[in-house]
Amino acid sequence: MKRIVSGIKPTGTLTLGNYLGAIKQFVKLQQKRIDDEFFLFVADMHAITTRQVPSELRKRTLDIAAMYLACGLDKERTVLFIQSEIKEHVELGYILQSNTYMGELERMTQFKDKSQRQETSITSSLFTYPALMAADILLYDADFVPVGDDQKQHLELTRDIANRFNNYYGDFFVVPEPLIPEVGSRIMDLQEPNKKMSKSDEMDKGYISMFDDEASIKRKIRSAVTDSYAKINYDPENQPGLANLLTIYASIADRSIQDIVNEYKDSSYKDFKEDLAQVVVDCLIPIQEKYNELIKSQELQDLLDRGRDIASDFAFKKMRKCKKKIGLGRK
Ligand code: AMP
Ligand code: TRP
Repeated sequence: MKRIVSGIKPTGTLTLGNYLGAIKQFVKLQQKRIDDEFFLFVADMHAITTRQVPSELRKRTLDIAAMYLACGLDKERTVLFIQSEIKEHVELGYILQSNTYMGELERMTQFKDKSQRQETSITSSLFTYPALMAADILLYDADFVPVGDDQKQHLELTRDIANRFNNYYGDFFVVPEPLIPEVGSRIMDLQEPNKKMSKSDEMDKGYISMFDDEASIKRKIRSAVTDSYAKINYDPENQPGLANLLTIYASIADRSIQDIVNEYKDSSYKDFKEDLAQVVVDCLIPIQEKYNELIKSQELQDLLDRGRDIASDFAFKKMRKCKKKIGLGRK
């Protein structure tokens, strides 16, 4: 039996990138690996590394939990919880910070990007974030962590921290493996296809939100930037916009990119985009309907309570052993 753990930060809206890079993968793994355990959380502690409006943060936290379920997670087999409800994440995060070097954190590209964009008010927790993320994973003895491509570096650091701890204190943490999908691990912005599709973006034409209605989805796909080659071909170097649209199609339809290229090789961009828009609509609208049923339900609250209890029990035991190993406290 293996344990699979992942999380999403409740900042901005959830995008199609989050769905294809992370959530969909998680759902597929769950269908494939029937003997494994799945822990999934909303990383609200990570959200406050940048300023959040409290009422919005709370709303988005629940939105993400409901959205995860609406995307097809198996309710019985998922330990779904909210990170801040398990205090051991922060406790272990501090211990892991004490096993992480400044130089390692300084090399994190996500930190470099974010701190470059925002010149003032960079919090110290934005800098130490990867140690908390390592704690999220190591606390639960995760074997596998499904994430998008942008989290690869954080996963490598998590492995380094685990190995360093194990070498000094003796075997204690499971060293986790990232699972990054072959297609869809990096969905790009629809207007600037050299940039990752991101929910914190100001320009809403660049991303598809999981909450967009049919008309907006169609409008955004129709106006997605392509090129003047007028030939359906997968060439991320010279036709990045089109390559991204082909990736979205392949990833939603669970088909290979080559297969989609073969089907559309004689079509116009316009016709291809029309079909793609319909594929995205057919994927997102049923998810939104399920989300609407779940968001106000008692069932969602019950699942989060159950998730909190299971995760909390696990985390408590792991931390007790961890402190003992390090020599913290009296016994
Ligand atoms: P975040 O929204 O930053 O908390 O990311 C949650 C998950 O979604 C992580 O596993 C990310 O790697 C993944 N993700 C975010 N943006 C994208 C994207 N544009 N393409 C693919 N995966 C993404
Ligand atoms: N840092 C991740 C992101 O920004 C979210 C995250 C936090 C996460 N803790 C995690 C993902 C643990 C996987 C496992 O996308």
